[in-house]
Amino acid sequence: MPDYLRLGVNIDHVATIRNARGGGHPDPVRAARLAVAAGADGITAHLREDRRHISDDDIVRLTRDIDVPINLECAATPEMLEIALRHRPHAVCLVPEKREEKTTEGGLDVAGQGNILSPFVRQLAGAGIRVSLFINPDQRQVEAAQQVGAAVIELHAGGYCEAVIAGDQKSAAAELAQHHAAAAAAEALGLEVHAGHGISFDTVAAFAAIPQIVELNIGHFLIGEAIFSGLDSAIRRMRGLMDQARAERLGARGA
Ligand code: PXP
Repeated sequence: MPDYLRLGVNIDHVATIRNARGGGHPDPVRAARLAVAAGADGITAHLREDRRHISDDDIVRLTRDIDVPINLECAATPEMLEIALRHRPHAVCLVPEKREEKTTEGGLDVAGQGNILSPFVRQLAGAGIRVSLFINPDQRQVEAAQQVGAAVIELHAGGYCEAVIAGDQKSAAAELAQHHAAAAAAEALGLEVHAGHGISFDTVAAFAAIPQIVELNIGHFLIGEAIFSGLDSAIRRMRGLMDQARAERLGARGA
């Protein structure tokens, strides 16, 4: 188990606030710089078809001005493929996207859409971009991700996080068991494992303690928490909780 867990900070919702008024404030690229100074190892941004938060210009500036890895989340569409190939971020995380959804609601059906996803993965990987597929913690989807040639899977953490918020301990335990199984299966197939979506101070430790996970991508909670404590403080606290949970897990393994 790697003792260092990377933190990707998703800055989409800085753009959501900016877009509520138009203009340039608050600037997600400024937030990205601050996130890096506070301990982010990478910056994640989701360019949606309707551009409701991150804009094309944000992607230009992030890939040009930020010197940690940029992880571009996008749908597998010809438009997004062209944008990714033009800007060549470090990584692309392919996600399902529905226009009417508030946020990404579930994982990709890689098992059912392998023939659509394969050419996307091939072209992105051929351009030197690390391709990740956002999937539910489901063994069938993990195997399909490997078959279409992805290097990375990102496990959709939302089910577990929602169960914790609802106080449904039984569902939370079942979700977590699925994450452990999916992460182990992915590692056995040679895939790198990330997790993201809905993670907060209350749920981060559970993911940080899954030994195969090497990166967490966290956005909405951090930007929300920044209203109360500032972005720097929110990220440092998240980083601390991640490090603590991983150290405890490593200690438990060594004991
Ligand atoms: N990872 C993926 C693939 C996502 O789609 C999102 C949301 O855009 C995140 C991580 C971050 O989720 P949240 O904003 O809920 O922390």
